[in-house]
Amino acid sequence: MSAPAVTAPSANVHEFTTELTVRQRSTPVEGVVVLDLAHPADEELPRWGPGAHIDLMLDDGVTRQYSLCGDPRDAGVWRIGVLLETHSRGGSQYVHEKLHEGATVRVRGPRNHFPLVDALHYKFVAGGIGITPISAMIEAVQRAGGDWTLLYGGRTRASMAFAEDLAERYPSRVTLWPQDERGLLDLKSLLEKPQDNTLVYCCGPEPLLAAMEQQCAHWPSGVLHIERFAPRAQSAEETAEALDHFEVVCQRSGASFEIGPEQSVLEVLEESDIPILGSCYEGVCGTCEAKVLEGIPAHRDSVLTDAERASCEVMMPCVSRSRTERLVLDL
Ligand code: FES
Repeated sequence: MSAPAVTAPSANVHEFTTELTVRQRSTPVEGVVVLDLAHPADEELPRWGPGAHIDLMLDDGVTRQYSLCGDPRDAGVWRIGVLLETHSRGGSQYVHEKLHEGATVRVRGPRNHFPLVDALHYKFVAGGIGITPISAMIEAVQRAGGDWTLLYGGRTRASMAFAEDLAERYPSRVTLWPQDERGLLDLKSLLEKPQDNTLVYCCGPEPLLAAMEQQCAHWPSGVLHIERFAPRAQSAEETAEALDHFEVVCQRSGASFEIGPEQSVLEVLEESDIPILGSCYEGVCGTCEAKVLEGIPAHRDSVLTDAERASCEVMMPCVSRSRTERLVLDL
């Protein structure tokens, strides 16, 4: 049976949303739970590709994004790995404390802003729980007979989910780098010489992502693919280019709005019942993506690539603003 589609009148509101059951729960390492989510009536779930994530819509109104890390060929289960954050804002704590086997949770997605692009060679770099999307990518590349290596860092060996399994199965490809044994990841050696036909994929905490951007600066643009789960810092240039006041026109709805310095575009659209979904409200999940028909956005998101930002075809209205006095959106 195929998954039901949720229909609504506009752009990003067509996403699959449903209640799933925790079919299985395990704790591969301390502080991380792995949940297998399935439809209560065993209906098939929408297909996904490596790098995709889903939203968990938790009881207390919190929505959190988690990468899918199982086997995309299995349409019966979505697997996620969730780290209990030391300074949890509610999401990971809820998952760890409440989502036991048999519990249900509202889920939306999947969505993929970190897709695996075809290449001859891949260098994967993961930090901590950032291994979740990377592990799905590795299995896909391995199945396709591609060439890859993984550099995987974590605080301690005991905190690194899937580490033992990956190292055992792919000893010549996987390098584990527990910080207490080996210090910070040696990105310099890994990325010193740009290599042909090679893509670099990284997911992990912000300092790792920033270091990767720095170490890949001399590689051709577009080679480095990263996924953020926390907003990136804005440059002074990005802050300066955004107008305080501008007009947003929603072409399909036939409505226009004045946006002031204290308001986000998404919040104004939501208040006026323009059909658009939000999830993270901080520019990291890509849920609110809107097509730009006219005008130049001042991008402040952490989702789009540099090329996508430069093309000005889409924007994330939860955080992004405008460089032009008028912005026309396909909403
Ligand atoms: Fe997450 Fe806008 S709501 S990017």
